[in-house]
Amino acid sequence: MSALTEIRIAPSILAADFARLGEQVDEVLAAGARVIHVDVMDGQFVPPITMGPNVVAAMRERASAVGAAIDVHLMIDAPERQIADFAAAGADNITFHLEATVHAHRLVQAIREQGCRAGVAINPGTSPDALAELAGDVDLILCMTVNPGWGGQRFIDGSPAKVAALRELAAMGASSTGPTIEVDGGIDSETVGGCLESGATLFVAGSAIFGAADPAGAYRALAEAVGEPSP
Ligand code: DX5
Ligand code: ZN
Repeated sequence: MSALTEIRIAPSILAADFARLGEQVDEVLAAGARVIHVDVMDGQFVPPITMGPNVVAAMRERASAVGAAIDVHLMIDAPERQIADFAAAGADNITFHLEATVHAHRLVQAIREQGCRAGVAINPGTSPDALAELAGDVDLILCMTVNPGWGGQRFIDGSPAKVAALRELAAMGASSTGPTIEVDGGIDSETVGGCLESGATLFVAGSAIFGAADPAGAYRALAEAVGEPSP
């Protein structure tokens, strides 16, 4: 079973020390993390530019050594142009933003054809209803709990209610289990509980883990708070 479908904390390497990236990833993997979240930004869909397929490829061997999944979050315009490269680099899941493409349904199929799980993300300003047609066809729905673009922002208070609406929408889909519901942005020991109660199972955490003095300990505390299964 893929860690992507279990209750999991997904450390976001956006908040890691890039000069010690491999070491920091090894640290959270050794502490039990089984999903590594990679934030890709293009300077267009969101202002910052971050990382590309080369970073996914650099993480692949480390993640595979312990059976961990690489969760790629594309915050880029025209995501359809980049799918093949991220799949070749070793992504297990590729999530694109609904706001960044006019052919979301076709893109989901294209991601699966590359052998990856397919996720769709929505911004805080996008209603869950926008996913009504797609919810039954995707492996993962990412509910942004901050506006995408930067780590370390404050969690948007109404997010758990939105997660609950997405969970309901997902349950109406064809698959018996429905897509994974992932939350991303401002997740820490204060905010993770409300998202868990509302039906999220995958919790991205950047600064709460890599901004802490002891990233492994910070990861373990969050993992315990959500009842993550042991690796
Ligand atoms: C923000 C990114 C997040 C980011 C979260 O646009 O999608 O994954 O790393 O960072 P924190 O956990 O610090 O809010
Ligand atoms: Zn992200």
